Amino acid sequence: MDAHKTIAGFSKLSKVGKIKWLVENFFKDPEVVMHELKSYWLTDENQQEVIDGISENTISNYPLPLGVVPNFVLNGVTYCVPMVTEESSVVAAASHAAKFWMDRGGIHAKVIDTRKIGHVHFYWSGTESRFAEIFDSLKSRLIEESEEAMASMKSRGGGLLSLSWKSFSSQEPGLYQLFAEFDTRDSMGANFINTVLEIFSGTIQNFFKTSPLLLPAERELDVIMSILSNYTPDCVVKVWVECPITELGDFAGDIDSITFAERFYHAIRIAQVDAYRACTHNKGIFNGIDAVALATGNDFRAIEACGHTYASRSGTYKSLSSCSIDQGVFKFWMELPLAIGTIGGLTSLHPIAKRSLELMDNPGANELMMIIAASGLIQNFAAIRSLVTTGIQQGHMKMHLNNILSQVQASSEEKEKATIYFMDKTVSVNSVRAFLDLLRNS
Ligand code: MEV
Repeated sequence: MDAHKTIAGFSKLSKVGKIKWLVENFFKDPEVVMHELKSYWLTDENQQEVIDGISENTISNYPLPLGVVPNFVLNGVTYCVPMVTEESSVVAAASHAAKFWMDRGGIHAKVIDTRKIGHVHFYWSGTESRFAEIFDSLKSRLIEESEEAMASMKSRGGGLLSLSWKSFSSQEPGLYQLFAEFDTRDSMGANFINTVLEIFSGTIQNFFKTSPLLLPAERELDVIMSILSNYTPDCVVKVWVECPITELGDFAGDIDSITFAERFYHAIRIAQVDAYRACTHNKGIFNGIDAVALATGNDFRAIEACGHTYASRSGTYKSLSSCSIDQGVFKFWMELPLAIGTIGGLTSLHPIAKRSLELMDNPGANELMMIIAASGLIQNFAAIRSLVTTGIQQGHMKMHLNNILSQVQASSEEKEKATIYFMDKTVSVNSVRAFLDLLRNS
């Protein structure tokens, strides 16, 4: 262990104090690094304070580009969709696909349901039939004692939708679960659900200690935890695009519309039967979903965890999207759970998340669910289109080349020449450097 790399009370140091300790102990050029980290601080101190307050032990900001996808027509409404991503080509691909579908009737989406779920997990040695006998009384107490915490959500039309229970005794002796469903309106609802679940936990413990319905031998109950589930299979949105195959047009590599539709269909079938391909295929979908989730201050890890669980609901991990070719019509769709919010949490705190929502005319949660799902679908469309026509590298390489050229500080004239030169050549840091050396020495 390197003693100088450990510290007590780091979180109590000032921001400058934290940076000072870091640069002195982890970097070879402390002054330069200190200057660089500070250079990413926002000039508006109030805004910087907001950003600092989002996390802990903050020392600087980590910039990621905010891009936009124009011509995004969904259910007849034209959006300009914000995306934050570290991956080049994602926004370009989405923009291309959005425009493609804008000219073919736009994207369609429908929210199917918005139920969120939470559990109290506990151990109890009583039988399932005894639990069934007492559950109605317990349920009334749970509703009564959570009323106050539920009031504001109820006034917005949300709240508790159902309360039931489950026993896991065949897999884990004594394990029970209180299963609660919620409507959290326009908020993602994690805080609300967890608060209510902790109240439920207290009520359950108290009920088992004091209720006359229980025998002395039945009173012992151990609540292990109370937490929402990020798996929300009943908070689902459906999104689709469709058009006559003849209207798909022709594609690069002399591929006509029928050949394209068939190759596209087969690409989806592959992702439906092979988990290795399904993983990459769904990753492409989340390239779009995460980027909008991040831009709007939503929890992309929760969204991804949920999406991947949903993709495995049959017992085998599969593609989230499907495709059909029927009576001359190409249809491409996806149904997936998305628990997101447009109020509360980071959505109302992060200045850019707020602007991102404003850019889309401040959608409610249902509308944003559709926008996010649509971003995933068209991102998937763009990736499969490239894969079954030109291959993915052609588009990627253009961006890759631009990134390398910026990294080596090429002038605009050099960039122009490099773009022409690398049109039919493999791009790598070394090959770009070699080309520039040649150009500069000639
Ligand atoms: C790259 O980030 C995403 C893709 O690999 C998705 C796919 O293969 O479908 C291009």
